[in-house]
Parts: sequence; structure tokens; C-alpha cells
Amino acid sequence: MAIHPPEERIWWKEPIARPELIWIAVAFLWGLVMFFMMIYWHGVGEQNLSNEAYRIKPEVFGERVEAMAEAYTVREEGDTGIPVVHPPPGSDVYMLARLWEWWPILELEKDQSYRLHLSSMDWQHGFSLQPENINIQVHPGYDFVLTITPDKPGIYSVVCNEFCGVGHHMMLGRIYVVE
Ligand code: CUA
Repeated sequence: MAIHPPEERIWWKEPIARPELIWIAVAFLWGLVMFFMMIYWHGVGEQNLSNEAYRIKPEVFGERVEAMAEAYTVREEGDTGIPVVHPPPGSDVYMLARLWEWWPILELEKDQSYRLHLSSMDWQHGFSLQPENINIQVHPGYDFVLTITPDKPGIYSVVCNEFCGVGHHMMLGRIYVVE
């Protein structure tokens, strides 16, 4: 703690000590390594996804989700009667995030490709696909698009992994992949 000002008033012009210089160099090089690892992981790992993002108004996104649900709902589930939507392979499919749910439930076919659109109606949520461990931030005002081809049938859970208020821990969604 400096009670008195430095004796040399222009203290920032002093030469940098050697150990400090070494640390600056180490930190800089590590930053470069991590930067190139992002690109490497994109190609080799399976988590840094190739996405597209577009600006969209939440109301417009909401209308598209409603239109898909209206056209392709096959049944309803749970106490809240959340629709299970089975859109045609190759189509645009939508899932919206809002306080505090993912809507609707999607039912996709194995080995078929879809354009999955994600967006939020209110504020930021996190799309965490379990058990695949794919994580995507979902923002209002942005249509986040992924081209996906599910290759394993099963029940996938969507967990919100951005803290979004008192209902955050209950914000669970579901995607079915069927043969
Ligand atoms: Cu939505 Cu946490």
C-alpha cells in the first residue's frame, strides 16, 4: 500500500525487471498457443461447432417456432402438455429458450440433417446438450443456426447452463432421436 507517492514521479518509465519480462513473454506465448488450439479443436475436437448467426427480433423467432409446432406436432407430454414436434428431415427446426423452459420438444430422425435454430425470448440462456456435452450460448436478438445430423438414437436432455434466475435449475428441455 502506497501511503506516499513514488519517489520517482515518472515511475512507469523504469526498465522492466527481467523476471517480469519473462512472465510477460510466457503469458503472451501461452495466449498464442490457446488461440491456435481453438482452431485445432474446431477441426479435431467435436465441441467448437461451425455455426451461423443472424440478427432476429424475438417476436419473429417466436412466430417461426409456433408455425413449426403448429404444422408438425405429433403428441403432447408432461403436466404442461408441451408439444413434441417431428418436423420433416432436412427442414429448419427451432427451439426457443425463455424463462424457464426450452420449447418445444423436438423429435428428429437418426442420420437425417436439420438446420437447428436457437434463440432466446428474454435474456441469455445456455444450451447444454446432455450427454453429448455440447454447449452454446443462446442470446435474444440472435438466431443461432447449426446444421446437425444426429447419429445416435436416444433421449437427449437440454440443460440451461447460464444462470437465468430463480427457475434456472428447472429449465430443462428434451430432444428425441428416433430410428
Ligand atoms: Cu435459462 Cu438458466
